[in-house]
Amino acid sequence: MTRPWMAVRLATLLAAAAQEPHVPDPEVGRIVDAVAAQFVAAGGRGFEGWEPKRLKEAARAYHARITPLAMPWRRGADTADTFVRPAAPPRVPNIAHWAWRDGDADWTLALSVAMAAVVQRPEALYLHTGPLAAGATAYTEPQTPAGRAALRCLRAAGAQEVRHAADPAPGGGRHPWAEVLGRGRRVRSKQTFAHLSDVTRLKTILDMGGIYLDRDAFLHRRVDHYRWRHDAVLGLEPSNFERDRVANFGCLMARPNSTFFQLFWDGAGRAAYANTSYLRTWGGWAHDSCRKSYALAMKRPDLVHLEARLLQYPFPGHGAARGGVTRALLDLTRRSEVCHMSGFKWNGGRTHQLRMRPSIFGEVLWPNVLRAAAAEPPLPPELLRCVRWLGDTLVNESYMPEAANAAAQGWR
Ligand SMILES: *[C@@H]1O[C@H](CO)[C@@H](O)[C@H](O)[C@H]1NC(C)=O
Ligand SMILES: *[C@@H]1O[C@H](CO)[C@@H](O)[C@H](O)[C@H]1NC(C)=O
Ligand SMILES: *[C@@H]1O[C@H](CO)[C@@H](O)[C@H](O)[C@H]1NC(C)=O
Repeated sequence: MTRPWMAVRLATLLAAAAQEPHVPDPEVGRIVDAVAAQFVAAGGRGFEGWEPKRLKEAARAYHARITPLAMPWRRGADTADTFVRPAAPPRVPNIAHWAWRDGDADWTLALSVAMAAVVQRPEALYLHTGPLAAGATAYTEPQTPAGRAALRCLRAAGAQEVRHAADPAPGGGRHPWAEVLGRGRRVRSKQTFAHLSDVTRLKTILDMGGIYLDRDAFLHRRVDHYRWRHDAVLGLEPSNFERDRVANFGCLMARPNSTFFQLFWDGAGRAAYANTSYLRTWGGWAHDSCRKSYALAMKRPDLVHLEARLLQYPFPGHGAARGGVTRALLDLTRRSEVCHMSGFKWNGGRTHQLRMRPSIFGEVLWPNVLRAAAAEPPLPPELLRCVRWLGDTLVNESYMPEAANAAAQGWR
């Protein structure tokens, strides 16, 4: 039975919650600290999918305690379409970053970079490569025709290489992944590369600020409405494979030297933040990036904005992607600004999803790119050629029908 006073009280609470600044809740902070201490005590010796039992237990406890609590994010009224850039300078600079350790680039990286170049029109686009091992080459020295084609497109988009001489280490000490790197054979695993890329992106976003994107994170609408409002923004993953809420570390934004990323990098010299920083490992890759950053965001919601529209794209069978490409999935795609399609090109389930009809690229993403490509100021002809090549590649891969690409005839 609903009593009128209950409805009034609920409405008052909701109104208060909607207006409240994101004040840290000490109770949530205590839970995060307790879970963090558990992760740290577990020794951080697991890969994703190979965690010690205690780590698994800690993850479950974390999930059970954290998820029912009030979430720190809130749907902003602004959207990419309605936002008018204020005269005041933005907090987050309009520069975009990717990390690509070594070896030839591929067309998926070119697609992510070209989409951001066309839609967001950043002032600079940086591709961060890692220290090159003996015999390794950077994407700027392509060894294959596919690598040369991707490089042409990356150059047309204005991407510049930033070659890092060493992997940065928080606290100036031992690299948090040192044990894993020491295990030789494992060095070339996906997890190791992903972890190194996480460390690079984190240090980059701390030092330079800007917008970081994974090579399979596709920006299809502008993200300016976050750039003026927030010092730090993290993608929010609705539900990962463990049905856990975590951050989507494939898309982040920040002003240079933001407090949130200072704390996340090395605790900013504060003991109370060491266990939720890269000084300590929670078990590598996704534990350290997605889960740990989410935990810190729960502890300090005043320092970061978590945003579901920087979408970790649901895999087939998960969330809105149950039952194929439904209206719900297309609506979710339309509302998003970035689609982080983890596993693009190497995960069979993802490939299958992208080849379904109606087509996500054909219906939503590519029309947005073509609209942005036709907008003022005009894009250089070589970038338009790159967009055409990428459109043809998406058609060849059956990621969208020819008709969606033919819409480009006006400017082809
Ligand atoms: C960090 O984790 C360690 C290991 O579990 C624990 O002993 C320590 O108390 C934790 N620090 C804080 C500030 O919670
Ligand atoms: C970053 O912030 C810290 C503390 O807020 C400050 O000590 C440091 O000088 C800043 N660094 C830069 C490069 O602005
Ligand atoms: C698409 O496939 C056709 C036929 O195999 C080929 O000629 C063309 O070069 C391909 N285009 C791209 C961009 O891969």
